[in-house]
Amino acid sequence: MARVLVTGSSDGLGLLAARLLAEQGHRVTLHARNDRRRDDAERALPEAEAVVVGDLSSLAETRDVAAQANGLGRYDAVIHNAAVGYQEQRRAQTEDGLAQVFAVNVLSAYLLTALVQRPDRLVYLGSGMHRGGDPDLSDLQWERKRWNGSQAYADSKLLDVVLALAVARRWPQVRSNAVDPGWVPTRMGGRGAPDDLRLGAVTQAWLAAGGSGELTGAYLHHQRRQQPHPAASDERVQEELLARCAQLTGVELPAP
Ligand SMILES: NC(=O)c1ccc[n+]([C@@H]2O[C@H](COP(=O)([O-])OP(=O)(O)OC[C@H]3O[C@@H](n4cnc5c(N)ncnc54)[C@H](OP(=O)(O)O)[C@@H]3O)[C@@H](O)[C@H]2O)c1
Repeated sequence: MARVLVTGSSDGLGLLAARLLAEQGHRVTLHARNDRRRDDAERALPEAEAVVVGDLSSLAETRDVAAQANGLGRYDAVIHNAAVGYQEQRRAQTEDGLAQVFAVNVLSAYLLTALVQRPDRLVYLGSGMHRGGDPDLSDLQWERKRWNGSQAYADSKLLDVVLALAVARRWPQVRSNAVDPGWVPTRMGGRGAPDDLRLGAVTQAWLAAGGSGELTGAYLHHQRRQQPHPAASDERVQEELLARCAQLTGVELPAP
């Protein structure tokens, strides 16, 4: 049985993946943004072993989430699931002066990857929308570009896939993969989303539980490998993303 940490699991696909894992007998730690959402998460999945708490738009709180997770012991797998959606009307800024979509969707996943004791398996949530992402990293904070929420989300999901594949290359002993869950009716996906909600969590849970064996550096949809955006496997883009994240957080990705 595996011990798995799932970020953003008080709701949506994170909660569904956690529930699937718990039903399969795995030990799950949830993550919620604040104490109120922790209570919601505990109510939604009382079988969870623990809940770590912190707002991933804040670098300080993300560091604290990593410390809480490390205090609970080593995980076999971490699912980097938390994200904000593509309908942000304006360039919301975090307490660290960063664009919210980038901070939550990309930078927090990087920082947790670097700070949480290294698991055997890492899963990052991409999206079909990553294919429309722009791999130009020169204006990650949207300071020069005119704000476009849908583009910012697509960019962030591309960078999640880049991160998954960068970590797979840098840490050969860790199985690191990215998942497109389909367009499913969560709060983010909206009521009219056409794909199967239950299926949307299956691949993450399967990867986290180790069902995919030695598979690493892959992008998957419904347990099948797909070709991601070409930038995802471009080592230059991968290295630039890691360098920018290290600069913004002050934390380097540890050596293998
Ligand atoms: N739904 C889709 O159709 C779809 C398609 C492709 C990819 N995805 C990806 O799947 C993942 C899960 O999406 P979802 O549809 O389940 O979305 P969701 O229902 O909106 O859930 C997002 C989760 O992330 C948490 N979260 C957001 N901002 C946070 C922050 N600043 N600090 C801490 N937690 C935060 C939310 O907490 P609160 O509940 O407290 O806000 C929630 O638990 C995301 O990575 C998304 O990009 C979804």
